[in-house]
Amino acid sequence: MTEITGRTRVFAILADPIAQVKAPQGLNRLMAERGVDGVMVPLHVAAADLPTVVAGLRATQSFGGAIVTVPHKTAIVPLLDAVSDAARLVGAVNAVRREPDGRLVGEILDGAGFVAGLRAAGHDPRGASAYLAGAGGAANAIAFALAEAGVGRLTVHNRTPARVEDLFARLRRLHPALPLASAADPAGHDLVVNATSLGLRPDDPLPLDPAGLAAGQLVAEIIMQPAKTPLLAAAAARGCRTHPGLPMLEGQLALMADFLRMRP
Ligand SMILES: NC(=O)c1ccc[n+]([C@@H]2O[C@H](COP(=O)([O-])OP(=O)(O)OC[C@H]3O[C@@H](n4cnc5c(N)ncnc54)[C@H](OP(=O)(O)O)[C@@H]3O)[C@@H](O)[C@H]2O)c1
Repeated sequence: MTEITGRTRVFAILADPIAQVKAPQGLNRLMAERGVDGVMVPLHVAAADLPTVVAGLRATQSFGGAIVTVPHKTAIVPLLDAVSDAARLVGAVNAVRREPDGRLVGEILDGAGFVAGLRAAGHDPRGASAYLAGAGGAANAIAFALAEAGVGRLTVHNRTPARVEDLFARLRRLHPALPLASAADPAGHDLVVNATSLGLRPDDPLPLDPAGLAAGQLVAEIIMQPAKTPLLAAAAARGCRTHPGLPMLEGQLALMADFLRMRP
């Protein structure tokens, strides 16, 4: 990072908890590489205090924007002045830019980052049959991005089935020709994605039954810590190719920096 001066633009990441976040390291490094006079700092903000903090950031003229993560991604949407079409359909944002006039504009980059990470590892999802475990914020973003990337069909499974139906209703509006199914078994899918939060804690159950995994499938994670989740270990043991969670963030860094106008 270059020296912080009176001209330095301030970016933030809003989260609770905050200690585990990885975007500041990545974006501060990227700003240094690009020669941007900016810094990203962690802001530990409880859910109840989000409106107060957003009002303060809106009024802060040296504030360039924020990365937004758990638990604020959905709650922040009504506090913004505008969101992209994708963010409106997903119902969440993970990046907010402050325009010079103080307007706050939101975008969701999780899904695009996931697909960019897959492609960077040589896996193009176009035409693939895809299975997604989860229907939360990250899963919604990934479902739209996989549809956008041209998967041939999409199966979704979630602990709370109503969230799958809700996701399908929104997906059908944008991608009416994409075949959608709700099923627990990942067998017979080229690409299997864990987009639940299961795998973060050592005692978590697996997000899906590994009996449905076989050689020829690619099993992808969004959990970044640990890098080798129990699901990826089970998939590798059954001869599957695996794709860890970190590339989803790496794939997003350039997208985040461009959206936040981190340029000299
Ligand atoms: N790699 C990356 O760049 C990246 C980016 C974004 C998020 N993430 C990670 O993705 C994870 C999910 O984030 P999110 O924002 O999507 O969270 P979220 O909106 O709270 O969704 C959590 C999902 O996990 C499911 N789930 C949670 N506990 C479960 C359990 N005990 N049994 C079965 N299903 C369970 C939920 O099912 P229900 O609907 O039934 O509750 C839901 O589908 C987080 O761990 C986050 O760190 C990674």
